[in-house]
Amino acid sequence: MKKRKSSARIPSLASLLGGAKNADRFLDTAWPNEPFVMHGAPSRLIGLVDVPELKSAETMCGVPCRALLAQGQHLGGKQRFGNIAVEPSVAPSLLETGATLYFNEPEFRSRSLWKWIRSLERELGQQPGVIRPSAFFSAPGRGARMHFDCTESFVVQVRGRKTWTFARNEHVAFPPVNYLEGDPLPDELRELVRGPMKAPSAKKRVSVELKPGSVLYLPRGWWHSTHTTETSVHLDLLTALPTWADAARPLIESVLHRGEAWRAPVTTADPTKTDALLADVRAALSAR
Ligand SMILES: [Fe+2]
Repeated sequence: MKKRKSSARIPSLASLLGGAKNADRFLDTAWPNEPFVMHGAPSRLIGLVDVPELKSAETMCGVPCRALLAQGQHLGGKQRFGNIAVEPSVAPSLLETGATLYFNEPEFRSRSLWKWIRSLERELGQQPGVIRPSAFFSAPGRGARMHFDCTESFVVQVRGRKTWTFARNEHVAFPPVNYLEGDPLPDELRELVRGPMKAPSAKKRVSVELKPGSVLYLPRGWWHSTHTTETSVHLDLLTALPTWADAARPLIESVLHRGEAWRAPVTTADPTKTDALLADVRAALSAR
């Protein structure tokens, strides 16, 4: 593997992870399927964690977001952890009552932040837009209960402290949807999982407290919960890596679209169609 040069204060994977050695170790041993944690000085993250939008909940509330949610116990109409959409004008006061504010994909104006994002995408061999930053502001003593997400994430601690507890998903690898423990299984998971789905026991969980400058990489599908130990702000660099199914889908769609036999209406079952599809896909591949 190509070794990286000095990384100080340059938007790069090496800066994000506290040095070239860490970045190489991350790519060699973790990316994209294993978690990775590092603690380091926030000064290496200039242009990412110090953007004016993140100065306070009030300044973040001035940034248009895809959604602004308050998360906490008894929110969202359930007798347990949930979230509701809130107006920016009331969001800061909700934070004072103990809710977490989730600024989902804010339209950050700071060019330095986007420089970081584009640089990370390039280094990870991804298209622009694969990494989508969100911001979380949370009060101490609260947190999110066990769940998993269908995307990868780089969690960058900006201020305060938050403990993350995570564990491998023993029920389903690379789940296609998010899931909160205790909720009814959605259709997309019911056909992939046998029996009730529970997070692994405490023995199999790992806990780590993030402090300013810490970075946690959490792979797709890993169970995780959080507990805020000190008023906390973190960036979630959600990374929606395309799957092999995403890569295969356009080819199969194109075969189905171009082939006259596939555009024809179905009147009776035809067991030979599976073999016909495989033959057509193979022919399309060899014609490339
Ligand atoms: Fe999550």
